[in-house]
Amino acid sequence: MKLKVISGISLILAVLFFSCQTEKELEFSRYYTAGSVIYQNKCQNCHGINGQGLLALMPPLTDSIYLKTNKGNLACYIKFGIKLKVTIGTKQFEDTMPANDFAPIDIAEVLTYVTNSFGNKMGTITSERVADDLKVCK
Ligand code: HEC
Repeated sequence: MKLKVISGISLILAVLFFSCQTEKELEFSRYYTAGSVIYQNKCQNCHGINGQGLLALMPPLTDSIYLKTNKGNLACYIKFGIKLKVTIGTKQFEDTMPANDFAPIDIAEVLTYVTNSFGNKMGTITSERVADDLKVCK
C-alpha cells in the first residue's frame, strides 16, 4: 500500500515535471496560437495557407533570410502596409500590401506566427519589441 502511494506520487511528480513549460515557452504558445487566427483572417488570402505566396503577385513568407534581415521593419510593414518594391530571393514584387489597424499585441502575435511557421524559426516577437519598432517607422 505504502509502495503504491509512493509510486503514485512519483508518477504525478514526473508528469508535472515534464508538462511544466517554462514561462517563455508559455508566452510563445500564447502568441503563436493567437497569431495563427489573425493570419487566417487577415493574411492568408494573399500569402497563402502555407505562406507560399501567389505567383508574381504575392510574395512568399518562407524566406527566413529576408525576414531576419528585415526583422526590425516587419512591425511597420504590417501596421502601415508596403508600397516599396520587395525583393525575395531573385523575384521582385511590386504590388502594394494594405495597412492594418492593429494594436502592438496583434502585430506581435501575427509576426510570431509568421516568423515561426513555413520553415522560419525566429522565436517570440513580443509586443514591447513591436511598440519600439513602431516608433521608428520610416
Ligand atoms: C491584399 C493582399 C495582402 C494581405 C491581406 C497581406 N499582405 Fe503581406 N504583402 C502583400 C504584398 C503584395 C507584399 C509585397 C509588397 C510590395 O512589393 O510592395 C507583401 C509583403 C509582405 C511582407 C514582406 C515580404 C515577405 O514576403 O516577407 C510580409 C512580412 C508580409 N507581407 C506579411 C503579411 C502579414 C503578416 C499579413 C497579415 C496581417 C499580410 N502580409 C497581409 C500582400 C498582402
